[in-house]
Amino acid sequence: MSLLPRPTAPMPAKPVADRFGRVKRKLRVSLTDRCNFRCPYCMPETPDFMPRADRLSRDELQRVLRLFVADLGVNRLRLTGGEPLLRRDLEAVIEECGELRPLGLERVSLTTNAALLARRAEGLQRAGLDDLNISLDALTPATFEKLSGGRGVAPVLDGIRAARDAGLSLKLNTVVVRGMNEDEILPLTRWAVRERLSLRFIEFMPLDGRGEWSRERVVSQAEILERLRSEFEVEALPRSNDPAAYYRVGSESEIGVIATVSNPFCASCDRLRITADGSLYPCLFSQRGTSLRELMRSGADDVALAASIRDTVWHKDAGYAAHPGYVERPIAMNSLGG
Ligand code: GTP
Ligand code: 5AD
Ligand code: SF4
Repeated sequence: MSLLPRPTAPMPAKPVADRFGRVKRKLRVSLTDRCNFRCPYCMPETPDFMPRADRLSRDELQRVLRLFVADLGVNRLRLTGGEPLLRRDLEAVIEECGELRPLGLERVSLTTNAALLARRAEGLQRAGLDDLNISLDALTPATFEKLSGGRGVAPVLDGIRAARDAGLSLKLNTVVVRGMNEDEILPLTRWAVRERLSLRFIEFMPLDGRGEWSRERVVSQAEILERLRSEFEVEALPRSNDPAAYYRVGSESEIGVIATVSNPFCASCDRLRITADGSLYPCLFSQRGTSLRELMRSGADDVALAASIRDTVWHKDAGYAAHPGYVERPIAMNSLGG
């Protein structure tokens, strides 16, 4: 009889947490800062894109993701941009994420503008994508064009259709900016109810690349709900860890509101972000990032890398709730991945 202990499942990683006790489970991974759209609430007028050589290589990316999942307790990855569909190797990246499932990874998600999605939806599903969030700021073509920097709405609607046909579960995101698309709230809701799609309205956050944010341009959660109530029965649903508060609208549909400005959810924030060049930003509003790429390229081993990540996360600030309003950021939203 063997005296060796029986092999057991790998020990669950001690989850990484900050000094406020917020445990981190979700990592948002920006794969590129480039985008085929020029949404004014996100992208600077003359973006200064990162040189390709600065980007993490696929091996470096895989090493970082493995560490977050196997050693730091992250169990959800969300691939973002810029626009992640601009990466021709997106399917391969998703497949490589799949290798982390035995180590504890539960979901691989994508956030996209969907303009290039129609031809790739099936392949993404085959590669192992679990779900995706699609930005859709208007149905009226002229309004959509204003908010996308001149791109049309039709390819996005095709992308949404293709994702559904491929069996991918999806949610829609609408950033509401006063003077641009508040009149789209009701038409978008009617459409989402009819199509049985999950839609979330997002308050305009002070992270736009052009410094055009002001409180007056934020259409608040209260105002969004007031508009919905003018036409639908609206009933609040229990809150989860999703950044959105959800409401039952009409008899079956769920509509969400992400109210970072009027009702911040920082106290329960379970997210971290890395940029395409491998900087770790614990919060959307962090004043600086920690370059994991520099650590790796200077020969740090996994123990040193994990220690640096834990230290950066530990010092994560309280969040938007702690310093509301416009503050200069070192990095634009297109580089931070939303
Ligand atoms: P799931 O919760 O996994 O569905 O993803 P998500 O809603 O976080 O992802 P998505 O990329 O669709 O983001 C939707 C909106 O929520 C964007 O405007 C993001 O900037 C915003 N958002 C995402 N994470 C955070 C966060 O940690 N804090 C704040 N304040 N906003 C966030
Ligand atoms: N305020 C709110 N949401 C924003 N996004 C980008 N910039 C902003 C902003 N200033 C959203 C996009 C997308 C998500 C990744 O981030 O519309 O849905
Ligand atoms: Fe988290 Fe920062 Fe967003 Fe607050 S503002 S929810 S702390 S990322």
